[in-house]
Amino acid sequence: MSPEDQIKVLHEIIRNCTLCPLHRTRTNAVPGEGSASARVMFIGEAPGASEDKSGRPFVGKSGELLTAMMQEIGIKRDDVFITSILKSRPPRNRTPIQAEIDACRPYLEQQIAIINPKIIVLLGAVAISSLIGPWKVSEAHGRFYETKGRTYFMTYHPAAALRFPNVKSTMKEDFLILSRELV
Ligand code: URA
Repeated sequence: MSPEDQIKVLHEIIRNCTLCPLHRTRTNAVPGEGSASARVMFIGEAPGASEDKSGRPFVGKSGELLTAMMQEIGIKRDDVFITSILKSRPPRNRTPIQAEIDACRPYLEQQIAIINPKIIVLLGAVAISSLIGPWKVSEAHGRFYETKGRTYFMTYHPAAALRFPNVKSTMKEDFLILSRELV
């Protein structure tokens, strides 16, 4: 099967997933979207209200900022793959709990295995702690980290950049560091 077909099959499974209680409160699961042969994969925290409603990742306010920041460094949404640690929205956007992260992990692992990206961009503390370990975003941001044959790049979550102007400028600087690696 081609990577595109493998992603299609996997996403159909995710849309019907009942592995954790979040399936009872979600409107739509949000598997992720983009190119199945992307060189860069972006991983956020969990779907919010707009994503839950549409079934698409990063389409709300955070998504608008993320898309704009990508554009600024010459990245098109269609050329990358975008997803989150959780595929279902936690009620009132609360922080994911470990049991939810563990239940969803095989889906993310399969997405990474199928797409085999050159760089995996971790957006914020939940993505960083889930894939690398506990590391303050304020210390980890702007850095590449290699483990188990994968290259990660760590930065803030766009929701933090929306709240704090200094985080927004730091995140833009991080994206410039990322862009230098993509030439
Ligand atoms: N925040 C995330 O982490 N993921 C989304 O899909 C939307 C907002």
